[in-house]
Amino acid sequence: MKALVAPAYGPVDRLRIREVPDRSPGPGQVLVRVQAAALNPFDVKLVTGELREMFPVRHPFVLGMDATGVVSAVGEGVSRFAVGDEVIAYAGAASGTIAEYVLVGDGPELVHRPRALPPVQAAALPTVAMTAHCVLAAAALEPGDTVLVVGATGGVGALVVQQAAESGVRVLATAAPADTAYIRGLGAHETIDHTGGDTPAKVRQLHPEGLDVVVDLINAGPALTPTAGIVRPGGRLVSTLYGPAEVDGIVPVYVRMTASIGDLPRQAERAAADRMSIEVAATYPFDRAGQAMRDLAAGRYTRGKIVITF
Ligand SMILES: NC(=O)c1ccc[n+]([C@@H]2O[C@H](COP(=O)([O-])OP(=O)(O)OC[C@H]3O[C@@H](n4cnc5c(N)ncnc54)[C@H](OP(=O)(O)O)[C@@H]3O)[C@@H](O)[C@H]2O)c1
Repeated sequence: MKALVAPAYGPVDRLRIREVPDRSPGPGQVLVRVQAAALNPFDVKLVTGELREMFPVRHPFVLGMDATGVVSAVGEGVSRFAVGDEVIAYAGAASGTIAEYVLVGDGPELVHRPRALPPVQAAALPTVAMTAHCVLAAAALEPGDTVLVVGATGGVGALVVQQAAESGVRVLATAAPADTAYIRGLGAHETIDHTGGDTPAKVRQLHPEGLDVVVDLINAGPALTPTAGIVRPGGRLVSTLYGPAEVDGIVPVYVRMTASIGDLPRQAERAAADRMSIEVAATYPFDRAGQAMRDLAAGRYTRGKIVITF
Protein backbone atom coordinates (compact mmCIF):
# COMPACT_ATOMS: atom_id res chain seq x y z
CA MET A 1 0.00 0.00 0.00
CA LYS A 2 1.01 3.64 -0.35
CA ALA A 3 1.61 6.04 2.56
CA LEU A 4 3.12 9.44 3.31
CA VAL A 5 6.48 8.59 4.84
CA ALA A 6 9.25 10.42 6.69
CA PRO A 7 12.54 8.59 6.03
CA ALA A 8 14.29 10.02 9.12
CA TYR A 9 14.01 13.00 11.49
CA GLY A 10 14.35 16.20 9.50
CA PRO A 11 12.49 18.90 7.59
CA VAL A 12 9.03 18.26 6.13
CA ASP A 13 10.32 18.74 2.58
CA ARG A 14 11.74 15.20 2.76
CA LEU A 15 8.29 13.61 3.06
CA ARG A 16 7.35 11.31 0.17
CA ILE A 17 4.53 8.98 -0.79
CA ARG A 18 6.09 5.51 -0.79
CA GLU A 19 5.15 1.85 -0.92
CA VAL A 20 5.10 0.38 2.61
CA PRO A 21 4.21 -3.15 3.76
CA ASP A 22 0.52 -4.02 3.73
CA ARG A 23 -1.16 -3.98 7.11
CA SER A 24 -3.34 -6.73 8.53
CA PRO A 25 -5.29 -6.66 11.79
CA GLY A 26 -4.07 -8.58 14.82
CA PRO A 27 -6.29 -9.53 17.77
CA GLY A 28 -8.43 -6.56 18.85
CA GLN A 29 -7.48 -4.52 15.78
CA VAL A 30 -9.51 -3.13 12.89
CA LEU A 31 -8.15 -2.41 9.42
CA VAL A 32 -9.69 0.72 7.91
CA ARG A 33 -9.51 1.77 4.26
CA VAL A 34 -8.90 5.49 4.60
CA GLN A 35 -11.28 7.96 2.91
CA ALA A 36 -9.95 11.15 4.52
CA ALA A 37 -7.19 11.97 7.00
CA ALA A 38 -6.49 15.21 8.87
CA LEU A 39 -3.19 16.88 9.68
CA ASN A 40 -2.18 18.21 13.10
CA PRO A 41 0.75 20.39 14.26
CA PHE A 42 1.92 17.35 16.25
CA ASP A 43 2.62 15.53 12.96
CA VAL A 44 5.19 18.18 12.07
CA LYS A 45 6.85 17.86 15.50
CA LEU A 46 7.08 14.07 15.04
CA VAL A 47 8.68 14.54 11.61
CA THR A 48 11.28 17.09 12.68
CA GLY A 49 12.14 15.18 15.84
CA GLU A 50 11.43 18.23 18.04
CA LEU A 51 9.75 15.90 20.54
CA ARG A 52 11.92 12.82 20.03
CA GLU A 53 12.81 12.52 23.75
CA MET A 54 9.16 12.27 24.77
CA PHE A 55 7.68 10.80 21.58
CA PRO A 56 10.28 8.82 19.64
CA VAL A 57 9.13 7.32 16.32
CA ARG A 58 10.58 4.52 14.20
CA HIS A 59 11.56 5.20 10.60
CA PRO A 60 10.36 4.98 7.94
CA PHE A 61 7.54 6.75 9.79
CA VAL A 62 4.01 6.90 8.36
CA LEU A 63 2.34 10.21 9.25
CA GLY A 64 -1.14 11.04 10.47
CA MET A 65 -3.32 10.44 13.52
CA ASP A 66 -6.91 11.14 12.42
CA ALA A 67 -9.00 9.47 9.72
CA THR A 68 -12.37 8.38 8.46
CA GLY A 69 -12.87 5.34 6.34
CA VAL A 70 -14.49 1.98 5.82
CA VAL A 71 -13.67 -1.17 7.79
CA SER A 72 -11.98 -3.62 5.44
CA ALA A 73 -11.01 -6.39 7.90
CA VAL A 74 -11.31 -7.11 11.63
CA GLY A 75 -8.99 -9.05 13.91
CA GLU A 76 -9.82 -11.78 16.36
CA GLY A 77 -12.11 -10.71 19.20
CA VAL A 78 -13.49 -7.60 17.48
CA SER A 79 -17.28 -7.52 17.86
CA ARG A 80 -18.26 -3.83 17.65
CA PHE A 81 -17.24 -3.45 14.00
CA ALA A 82 -17.80 -5.40 10.80
CA VAL A 83 -16.45 -5.14 7.26
CA GLY A 84 -18.15 -2.24 5.48
CA ASP A 85 -18.80 -0.12 8.60
CA GLU A 86 -18.06 3.60 8.17
CA VAL A 87 -15.86 4.79 11.02
CA ILE A 88 -13.93 7.67 12.57
CA ALA A 89 -10.50 6.68 13.82
CA TYR A 90 -7.82 8.12 16.06
CA ALA A 91 -4.62 6.18 15.51
CA GLY A 92 -2.27 8.32 17.59
CA ALA A 93 1.27 8.05 16.31
CA ALA A 94 1.14 4.26 16.18
CA SER A 95 -0.11 3.36 12.70
CA GLY A 96 -0.26 6.47 10.49
CA THR A 97 -3.48 7.56 8.82
CA ILE A 98 -2.05 9.26 5.73
CA ALA A 99 -2.00 5.88 4.09
CA GLU A 100 -4.35 3.77 2.06
CA TYR A 101 -5.07 1.61 5.12
CA VAL A 102 -4.68 2.20 8.85
CA LEU A 103 -4.78 -0.17 11.82
CA VAL A 104 -6.81 0.99 14.80
CA GLY A 105 -7.60 -0.68 18.13
CA ASP A 106 -11.17 -1.72 18.89
CA GLY A 107 -11.35 0.79 21.73
CA PRO A 108 -12.39 4.39 22.48
CA GLU A 109 -10.27 5.51 19.51
CA LEU A 110 -12.68 3.99 16.98
CA VAL A 111 -16.36 4.93 16.55
CA HIS A 112 -19.03 4.58 13.90
CA ARG A 113 -19.31 7.74 11.81
CA PRO A 114 -22.72 9.38 12.26
CA ARG A 115 -24.48 9.56 8.89
CA ALA A 116 -25.00 13.31 9.17
CA LEU A 117 -21.27 13.99 9.50
CA PRO A 118 -19.49 14.02 6.11
CA PRO A 119 -16.17 12.09 5.93
CA VAL A 120 -13.99 15.21 5.51
CA GLN A 121 -15.40 16.99 8.59
CA ALA A 122 -15.35 13.72 10.54
CA ALA A 123 -11.68 13.11 9.69
CA ALA A 124 -10.83 16.56 11.07
CA LEU A 125 -12.45 15.74 14.39
CA PRO A 126 -10.64 13.16 16.58
CA THR A 127 -7.47 14.86 17.86
CA VAL A 128 -8.84 18.37 18.21
CA ALA A 129 -12.24 17.40 19.63
CA MET A 130 -10.82 14.97 22.16
CA THR A 131 -8.15 17.50 23.16
CA ALA A 132 -10.75 20.25 23.57
CA HIS A 133 -12.75 17.89 25.78
CA CYS A 134 -9.68 17.21 27.96
CA VAL A 135 -8.85 20.93 28.10
CA LEU A 136 -12.37 21.84 29.20
CA ALA A 137 -12.34 19.12 31.85
CA ALA A 138 -9.09 20.60 33.20
CA ALA A 139 -10.44 24.16 33.01
CA ALA A 140 -13.43 23.22 35.22
CA LEU A 141 -15.32 26.34 34.14
CA GLU A 142 -17.91 27.65 36.60
CA PRO A 143 -20.83 30.03 36.08
CA GLY A 144 -19.59 33.63 36.11
CA ASP A 145 -16.06 32.71 35.03
CA THR A 146 -14.14 34.63 32.39
CA VAL A 147 -11.83 32.47 30.30
CA LEU A 148 -9.19 33.51 27.77
CA VAL A 149 -8.27 31.10 24.98
CA VAL A 150 -4.82 31.77 23.50
CA GLY A 151 -4.67 30.10 20.08
CA ALA A 152 -8.46 30.29 19.77
CA THR A 153 -8.58 30.21 15.98
CA GLY A 154 -6.77 26.86 15.72
CA GLY A 155 -8.23 23.38 15.56
CA VAL A 156 -8.36 22.85 19.32
CA GLY A 157 -9.04 26.48 20.24
CA ALA A 158 -12.10 26.88 18.04
CA LEU A 159 -13.75 23.92 19.77
CA VAL A 160 -12.78 25.15 23.24
CA VAL A 161 -14.29 28.56 22.43
CA GLN A 162 -17.56 27.05 21.20
CA GLN A 163 -18.05 24.76 24.16
CA ALA A 164 -16.97 27.33 26.74
CA ALA A 165 -19.41 29.88 25.26
CA GLU A 166 -22.16 27.25 25.22
CA SER A 167 -21.58 26.61 28.91
CA GLY A 168 -22.43 30.25 29.64
CA VAL A 169 -19.06 31.67 30.73
CA ARG A 170 -17.53 34.84 29.26
CA VAL A 171 -15.02 33.98 26.55
CA LEU A 172 -12.05 36.07 25.41
CA ALA A 173 -10.25 34.77 22.35
CA THR A 174 -7.05 35.67 20.55
CA ALA A 175 -7.53 36.27 16.82
CA ALA A 176 -5.81 38.03 13.97
CA PRO A 177 -7.97 40.91 12.64
CA ALA A 178 -9.03 38.82 9.63
CA ASP A 179 -10.36 36.08 11.95
CA THR A 180 -12.22 38.32 14.41
CA ALA A 181 -15.66 37.82 12.86
CA TYR A 182 -15.05 34.06 12.60
CA ILE A 183 -14.20 33.64 16.27
CA ARG A 184 -17.03 35.88 17.40
CA GLY A 185 -19.33 33.75 15.29
CA LEU A 186 -18.20 30.78 17.36
CA GLY A 187 -19.32 32.54 20.54
CA ALA A 188 -16.34 34.60 21.74
CA HIS A 189 -17.46 37.76 23.56
CA GLU A 190 -14.18 39.68 23.25
CA THR A 191 -11.21 39.28 20.93
CA ILE A 192 -7.57 40.12 21.51
CA ASP A 193 -5.41 40.75 18.44
CA HIS A 194 -2.33 38.57 19.02
CA THR A 195 -0.51 39.82 15.94
CA GLY A 196 2.19 42.25 17.02
CA GLY A 197 2.69 40.28 20.22
CA ASP A 198 2.32 40.87 23.96
CA THR A 199 -1.12 39.38 24.40
CA PRO A 200 -0.75 39.37 28.23
CA ALA A 201 -0.21 43.16 28.30
CA LYS A 202 -3.26 43.74 26.09
CA VAL A 203 -5.38 41.51 28.33
CA ARG A 204 -4.11 43.14 31.52
CA GLN A 205 -5.21 46.55 30.23
CA LEU A 206 -8.73 45.24 29.67
CA HIS A 207 -8.90 43.03 32.77
CA PRO A 208 -6.50 44.39 35.42
CA GLU A 209 -8.15 42.17 38.04
CA GLY A 210 -6.94 39.03 36.22
CA LEU A 211 -8.88 36.19 34.63
CA ASP A 212 -10.48 33.18 36.26
CA VAL A 213 -9.12 30.75 33.67
CA VAL A 214 -6.57 30.97 30.85
CA VAL A 215 -6.25 28.19 28.29
CA ASP A 216 -2.93 28.61 26.47
CA LEU A 217 -2.52 26.46 23.36
CA ILE A 218 0.50 28.37 22.03
CA ASN A 219 3.13 29.21 24.62
CA ALA A 220 5.49 26.56 25.95
CA GLY A 221 8.27 26.51 28.53
CA PRO A 222 9.29 29.94 29.88
CA ALA A 223 6.93 31.62 27.38
CA LEU A 224 4.05 30.43 29.57
CA THR A 225 5.15 32.68 32.44
CA PRO A 226 3.68 35.95 31.04
CA THR A 227 0.39 34.11 30.46
CA ALA A 228 0.37 32.98 34.09
CA GLY A 229 0.64 36.65 35.07
CA ILE A 230 -2.87 37.39 33.80
CA VAL A 231 -4.55 34.64 35.84
CA ARG A 232 -6.15 36.01 39.00
CA PRO A 233 -4.98 34.64 42.35
CA GLY A 234 -6.68 31.27 42.78
CA GLY A 235 -7.45 31.04 39.06
CA ARG A 236 -6.53 28.22 36.69
CA LEU A 237 -4.02 27.94 33.84
CA VAL A 238 -4.40 25.10 31.34
CA SER A 239 -1.85 24.29 28.63
CA THR A 240 -1.61 21.65 25.91
CA LEU A 241 2.15 22.12 25.79
CA TYR A 242 4.58 22.24 28.71
CA GLY A 243 6.18 24.70 31.07
CA PRO A 244 7.24 25.22 34.67
CA ALA A 245 5.63 23.15 37.43
CA GLU A 246 4.67 26.38 39.21
CA VAL A 247 4.51 29.97 37.97
CA ASP A 248 3.77 32.92 40.26
CA GLY A 249 1.94 30.68 42.72
CA ILE A 250 -0.12 29.03 39.99
CA VAL A 251 0.23 25.32 39.27
CA PRO A 252 -0.61 24.95 35.56
CA VAL A 253 -2.52 21.92 34.38
CA TYR A 254 -0.72 20.34 31.43
CA VAL A 255 -3.20 18.38 29.37
CA ARG A 256 -2.19 15.18 27.60
CA MET A 257 -5.07 14.05 25.45
CA THR A 258 -5.93 10.36 25.55
CA ALA A 259 -8.74 8.62 23.71
CA SER A 260 -9.86 6.99 26.96
CA ILE A 261 -11.00 10.36 28.33
CA GLY A 262 -11.50 12.23 25.04
CA ASP A 263 -15.06 10.92 24.55
CA LEU A 264 -14.94 10.60 20.75
CA PRO A 265 -18.51 9.22 20.44
CA ARG A 266 -19.97 12.33 22.10
CA GLN A 267 -17.78 14.68 20.04
CA ALA A 268 -18.91 13.00 16.82
CA GLU A 269 -22.56 13.21 17.84
CA ARG A 270 -22.22 16.90 18.72
CA ALA A 271 -20.63 17.66 15.34
CA ALA A 272 -23.23 15.59 13.51
CA ALA A 273 -26.03 17.46 15.30
CA ASP A 274 -24.52 20.82 14.27
CA ARG A 275 -23.74 21.62 17.89
CA MET A 276 -20.05 21.94 17.10
CA SER A 277 -18.62 23.46 13.94
CA ILE A 278 -15.38 22.09 12.49
CA GLU A 279 -13.73 24.47 10.03
CA VAL A 280 -11.85 22.80 7.20
CA ALA A 281 -9.33 25.23 5.71
CA ALA A 282 -8.32 23.09 2.74
CA THR A 283 -8.45 19.61 1.27
CA TYR A 284 -5.58 18.06 -0.70
CA PRO A 285 -5.65 14.84 -2.70
CA PHE A 286 -3.48 12.04 -1.32
CA ASP A 287 -0.81 12.51 -3.99
CA ARG A 288 -0.28 16.09 -2.68
CA ALA A 289 -0.14 15.12 1.01
CA GLY A 290 3.53 16.12 1.26
CA GLN A 291 2.66 19.60 0.01
CA ALA A 292 -0.20 19.77 2.52
CA MET A 293 2.23 19.01 5.35
CA ARG A 294 4.65 21.65 4.08
CA ASP A 295 1.82 24.20 3.95
CA LEU A 296 0.84 23.29 7.51
CA ALA A 297 4.44 23.69 8.70
CA ALA A 298 4.72 27.04 6.89
CA GLY A 299 1.55 28.35 8.58
CA ARG A 300 -0.25 28.90 5.28
CA TYR A 301 -3.69 28.76 6.95
CA THR A 302 -4.49 30.74 10.08
CA ARG A 303 -7.53 28.70 10.96
CA GLY A 304 -9.25 25.41 10.25
CA LYS A 305 -8.04 21.91 9.53
CA ILE A 306 -6.16 20.53 6.53
CA VAL A 307 -7.65 17.26 5.30
CA ILE A 308 -6.23 14.73 2.82
CA THR A 309 -8.75 12.96 0.61
CA PHE A 310 -8.26 9.52 -0.97
N1 LIG B 1 -1.15 17.95 24.72
C1 LIG B 1 -1.92 17.38 23.82
O1 LIG B 1 -2.44 16.27 24.02
C2 LIG B 1 -2.19 18.12 22.54
C3 LIG B 1 -3.21 17.68 21.69
C4 LIG B 1 -3.48 18.42 20.54
C5 LIG B 1 -2.73 19.55 20.24
N2 LIG B 1 -1.72 19.90 21.07
C6 LIG B 1 -0.92 21.11 20.77
O2 LIG B 1 -1.75 22.24 20.99
C7 LIG B 1 -1.37 23.28 20.10
C8 LIG B 1 -2.60 23.80 19.34
O3 LIG B 1 -3.05 22.78 18.48
P1 LIG B 1 -4.03 23.11 17.27
O4 LIG B 1 -4.28 21.84 16.57
O5 LIG B 1 -5.19 23.90 17.75
O6 LIG B 1 -3.08 24.07 16.39
P2 LIG B 1 -3.41 24.92 15.08
O7 LIG B 1 -4.67 24.41 14.47
O8 LIG B 1 -2.17 24.99 14.30
O9 LIG B 1 -3.77 26.36 15.63
C9 LIG B 1 -2.86 27.28 16.05
C10 LIG B 1 -3.61 28.61 16.08
O10 LIG B 1 -2.93 29.49 16.92
C11 LIG B 1 -2.85 30.77 16.32
N3 LIG B 1 -1.64 31.41 16.83
C12 LIG B 1 -0.37 31.25 16.42
N4 LIG B 1 0.46 31.99 17.19
C13 LIG B 1 -0.32 32.59 18.11
C14 LIG B 1 -0.06 33.47 19.20
N5 LIG B 1 1.19 33.87 19.49
N6 LIG B 1 -1.10 33.89 19.95
C15 LIG B 1 -2.34 33.50 19.68
N7 LIG B 1 -2.68 32.66 18.67
C16 LIG B 1 -1.66 32.23 17.89
C17 LIG B 1 -2.84 30.51 14.84
O11 LIG B 1 -3.43 31.60 14.16
P3 LIG B 1 -2.54 32.72 13.43
O12 LIG B 1 -1.95 32.05 12.23
O13 LIG B 1 -3.50 33.81 13.14
O14 LIG B 1 -1.48 33.14 14.39
C18 LIG B 1 -3.74 29.27 14.73
O15 LIG B 1 -5.07 29.66 14.54
C19 LIG B 1 -0.29 22.70 19.19
O16 LIG B 1 0.99 23.07 19.66
C20 LIG B 1 -0.48 21.20 19.32
O17 LIG B 1 0.69 20.47 19.05
C21 LIG B 1 -1.42 19.22 22.20
